Amino acid sequence: MPAAYNHVALLESALTTAAEAAGLDVAAFRPDVRTADPKHGDFQANGVLPYAKARKANPRAVAEQLVAALPQELRETFDVAIAGPGFINLTLKPLPLLEWLKTYATEASLASGAASAHAGQTWVVDYSSPNTAKQMHVGHLRSAVIGEAICRLLAFTGARVIRDNHLGDWGTQFGKLIYGYKRWANPEALAADPIEELERLYKLGNQATPDGSPELEEARRELVKLQNGDPENVALWQSFSDVSLKAFQQVYDRLGIRFDHNLGESFYNDKVERVYQELQDVGLAQESEGALVVFHPEHPRFATQPFLVRKADGASNYASTDLATALYRSQHFKADGIVVVTDFRQSDHFEQLFLTVRKWFAAKGYRLPELHHVTFGAVTGEDGKALKTRSGDVIRLKALLDEAEERAFAIVTEKNPDLPEAERHDIARAVGIGAAQYADLSQNRSSNYVFSWDKMLALEGNTAPYLLYAVARIHSIFRRAGVPPGDPASEAAATAPETPTELQVARKLVKFPDALRLATETLRPHMLCLYLYELAGDYSAFNNADKVLVDDPAVRARRLLLCARTLLVLETGLRLLGLRTLERM
Ligand code: ARG
Repeated sequence: MPAAYNHVALLESALTTAAEAAGLDVAAFRPDVRTADPKHGDFQANGVLPYAKARKANPRAVAEQLVAALPQELRETFDVAIAGPGFINLTLKPLPLLEWLKTYATEASLASGAASAHAGQTWVVDYSSPNTAKQMHVGHLRSAVIGEAICRLLAFTGARVIRDNHLGDWGTQFGKLIYGYKRWANPEALAADPIEELERLYKLGNQATPDGSPELEEARRELVKLQNGDPENVALWQSFSDVSLKAFQQVYDRLGIRFDHNLGESFYNDKVERVYQELQDVGLAQESEGALVVFHPEHPRFATQPFLVRKADGASNYASTDLATALYRSQHFKADGIVVVTDFRQSDHFEQLFLTVRKWFAAKGYRLPELHHVTFGAVTGEDGKALKTRSGDVIRLKALLDEAEERAFAIVTEKNPDLPEAERHDIARAVGIGAAQYADLSQNRSSNYVFSWDKMLALEGNTAPYLLYAVARIHSIFRRAGVPPGDPASEAAATAPETPTELQVARKLVKFPDALRLATETLRPHMLCLYLYELAGDYSAFNNADKVLVDDPAVRARRLLLCARTLLVLETGLRLLGLRTLERM
């Protein structure tokens, strides 16, 4: 019998069947299986207690009935014990552990096990999504890094993922930018660092057009010309988008990000009229002093706080384009799920948006995708305040990534002065960028994220350098062993894990599917980070206690198998988080 990929799923279904056989009310019984604290076994079924309580039954007696009804096959796979008032503890036996490790020997086999979660589904992930004609700053790191990890998790679990960069490329600011551009553009500066120059021109344009001034009227006219398709202004605006995307792509390349689409706000220009019309047709939107607004009477705040979907002057806004975007993703991409990654300050906007979309789509009979707003907290310095340069400016993302690589290069050079310089640079790129990505991903995204160079680059703790180093060390064991990791011929001789530390790593390895499922279901990559960190810890305990390259061929094969699978799971996990791993460090 091939090993089941995910033991929680296996146990949930076995316990449900057993409940039926034992005469329990299956409609009311939920097995509630989770991974357990290793002290209590590998998995724990907690569902007996609430079930017995609701029936005033003795939970231990119910647990005993249930355990007695478990199929023989399952008893051969797990040691089963009833604990406390009626928890069922399940511990994998060594032989099934070995079978699992042999079955899931490649990334492809892990992926095929995981694929059932989203097989056949299409997910659109909207992340990074910066505003054009502006630099990306440190705040943009989070959306890019978290969004990319979510894309990879969804793809690994079977989804067709569409990466969509929803650029902020439309709005009144372009009137002021064109105003500034036409007066003060410096061709040399534009050639050298276009975004820097565009930022300067926008600032000048903004300063020169105070409220109520004729200059502001002029900037408005530039905007109207742009909106009406004036060739000169459209060409300028297009060049702003082009240079911005080119600069953004340099950052994306370093983070391993490739978008399938860059459908910014401007793309939805000609799609908002339909939204206004339909929202009014179905009775969701109403006119209010020329503007179009939506209220949600059932909501404590949005019953009175309007969702402004068209401005009083008739212009579209962030809400209009986001409504049109939802429709496009549902109809054009046939999305089953939509994920938008932005900081928590946009929570109200997305709550109102999703409430409106649900009602609108229901009224029109449109397919409704799962809608997720994935939020994250602010990036702060160690003093808890917004992260700034010494002179008080925002930190540019490019400069931050440069510094990460420089710092990593200094560390690598200190540890490995003899490595060729090109290799040290390559290592520094993977470690430096990986450290910045991982530091962000490893914290619960809902919290503010405290940026600390020393912590993220530390070789100890839940950091990229620690995990990348664990990977490199396992590679070095295989170099010394003279076999490639995962070599089927040498693994054939491997027997089941025996020593306590061997068992501990093996038991952790088989829980990769659970960590992956948890991270994907909650769209929280830090759950995968925590698992990888714990796995590396268990591996290191094993490595300290049990010598791998011993003479006894059976022991050696058994331990090399554990090394190879730890390597596989660490490399797969880190890749899912967007990191690049190294064979030497
Ligand atoms: N451009 C926006 C910003 O910089 C983020 C866009 C997020 N996506 C969306 N569909 N609203 O804040």
